[in-house]
Amino acid sequence: MTNSSLAGAEHLTDAELLAQLDLESLPRHIAIIMDGNGRWAELRGLPRMAGHAEGIKSVREATALCLELGIPNLTIYAFSQENWKRPAHEITALMLLLERFLQSELDELVERGIRFRAIGRVDSLPTSALKWVRKVEGETAHLDKMTLTVALSYGGRSEIVDAVRRLAKDCQAGQMSPDQIDEPFLERYLSTQGLPDPDLLIRTSGEARISNFLLWQLAYTEMYFTPTLWPDFRRREGLLALLDFQRRERRFGRLPTPAFP
Ligand code: IPE
Ligand code: IPE
Ligand code: MG
Repeated sequence: MTNSSLAGAEHLTDAELLAQLDLESLPRHIAIIMDGNGRWAELRGLPRMAGHAEGIKSVREATALCLELGIPNLTIYAFSQENWKRPAHEITALMLLLERFLQSELDELVERGIRFRAIGRVDSLPTSALKWVRKVEGETAHLDKMTLTVALSYGGRSEIVDAVRRLAKDCQAGQMSPDQIDEPFLERYLSTQGLPDPDLLIRTSGEARISNFLLWQLAYTEMYFTPTLWPDFRRREGLLALLDFQRRERRFGRLPTPAFP
């Protein structure tokens, strides 16, 4: 991996890592592709589900770290549209895990002021999981300390297709003309409407691909790929990712500052 280790940071304590962070230039939105649960379990001779269950603890730590640092948006990829191709028993177990997570976390989310939001074609989830998704969304809709967005049955391409379809219908209904469509306009039709684009994308488990996540929104996001498997990605790994992010120079097409004449 090219950018997962911060030279010299290995020997630092968590408190020292934290002290190195510039709290004024933290990302406003972190997106995470939580990958490697299955491999984490296989390495220990455990069923894949043990890795998914352990991964829930990493979700809690990532959320806690964002709250602690005042990072207002965290978006996690929990289940992709392509994940429906997995064996039925794994899908069923994952949906049950999601449901249990929502049940057990609701009070904590409310207490901490965290709004829960789901993106993706959530209507394809089993009824009982969907019921919990809607319940937790509803009961946290007014909270604004932080937004935890969970991508479920999510695919970046279908998100764009769904947006374009609704946009076309609104044009057809005469609510606007195609000439009015620009980037901010289209963004209002995406499921992430209202969220800033992610500043930092983290993908665990050594894979360096996007896997159909937030295709539109990641246009200028900084990418952080780490070999750490998701269940092992805890507070310390989060701090390392943030320190790495703060070493980047985000240019957005401009010249570096100061510009070389
Ligand atoms: C990520 O872990 C979680 C989901 C995709 C639901 P994986 O299940 O993809 O774990 P690996 O990649 O097989 O190790
Ligand atoms: C991406 O992980 C999806 C989630 C983390 C939910 P996958 O394990 O499904 O991705 P691929 O198949 O390796 O690209
Ligand atoms: Mg995987």
